[in-house]
Amino acid sequence: MPRAAGDTWDIVTSVGFTALAVCAARALDAALDPPLANDDFAAGFVAAAGEPNLAAAVANTDLSSAAAFNAQWVGVRTRFFDGFFARARVGQAVILAAGLDCRAYRLAWPPDCTVFEVDQPRVLEFKQQVLDQRGAQPSTRRVAIATDLRDDWAAALIEGGFDPGQPTAWALEGLLPYLPGAAQDALFEKLHELSAVGSHVAVELGPDPGEAKEFADSIPTISQLSAQPPVAQLWYDDARIDTKDWLTKQGWDVVGVDLVDKAANEYGRPFQGLPPVFDRLLRSKFFGATRTR
Ligand SMILES: C[S@@+](CC[C@H](N)C(=O)[O-])C[C@H]1O[C@@H](n2cnc3c(N)ncnc32)[C@H](O)[C@@H]1O
Repeated sequence: MPRAAGDTWDIVTSVGFTALAVCAARALDAALDPPLANDDFAAGFVAAAGEPNLAAAVANTDLSSAAAFNAQWVGVRTRFFDGFFARARVGQAVILAAGLDCRAYRLAWPPDCTVFEVDQPRVLEFKQQVLDQRGAQPSTRRVAIATDLRDDWAAALIEGGFDPGQPTAWALEGLLPYLPGAAQDALFEKLHELSAVGSHVAVELGPDPGEAKEFADSIPTISQLSAQPPVAQLWYDDARIDTKDWLTKQGWDVVGVDLVDKAANEYGRPFQGLPPVFDRLLRSKFFGATRTR
C-alpha cells in the first residue's frame, strides 16, 4: 500500500502527482473540440514540473491516446465545477484539495469574493512559484491554506480569514478517494458546521470498492504512463457514510448530476468511447447541494 497515515508529497510524487496529471489533462483538453477547461495555466505547470512522462503526454495530441481520453473527462468535470461557481454567487469560495486549480485566476468572481485554496504545503509552494514566475494576478482575493485535510483543516481555514457566518461555495473535485473513510466523514461534518444557510457545495464522490478495482484494471490514466503508483493504488476504499443521504438529513437540498448527459446536451462535447466504469462514475458520482436550514 503506497499510502500511510500522515503521508506527505510534492508535485511529482504520490498524491501530489495526481494534481499534475489532472493538470496535464486540462492542458490536453485545449486540443479537443470544443475545449471545455479553458485553462491557460495548465501547460505551464506541466513544463515547470519537468516530469518527462507528463511532458510527453501533453506534447502528444493524438486524440486516440490514453491521455486524450483523460482530457475528455477532466475537461467535462472542469466545466461542471466552473459552472457551479458561476451560479453560486456568494462572498467566499473554498476549493478543498485545490491542487493546480487556477479558478482564482481564470474565473470572474462576485465583487469582494475571497477564494480559499486548501492543499498540502509542497503542492501549494510549487503552484505559487510557477504563478509568481509568470507574474499571474488572481481575478479576486485568493488565500492559500497549506494544511492536511485529514487534520484540523477547519482551524487553519478560519485562521486564514474564512468567515463561517457567511454563505460559502465549496468544491470537492478529485479529492474524496484519497481520504480514508473516517477522514471523509469528519470532513463533511466540518464542512456542514462551517456552512451558513445559503451555502452551496459541488462534490465528486469516489468509486465504490468494486468500481475502484474495475477502474484500475481497465482504464489507462495519465499517471499510469509514469513511474508513479497507478492512481487507484493511492485510493482508500474503506467504508464511509452515504454523503448525499447524510447532507439531506442535515438540511441540504441535494441534486445528482449526470455528466455524460451534460457533456452531450449542455456542453456540446459528447464522450467518445466511454468505458462502462466511467459511464457509471460520470453519471452517478457528482452532485450539487444547497443548505436550506
Ligand atoms: C487528483 S488531484 C485534484 C486536484 C484538483 N482538485 C483538480 O481537480 O485539479 C488531488 C489533490 O488532492 C490533494 N489532497 C489529497 N489528499 C489530501 C490531504 N489529505 N490533504 C490535503 N490535500 C490533499 C492532493 O495534494 C492533490 O492536489
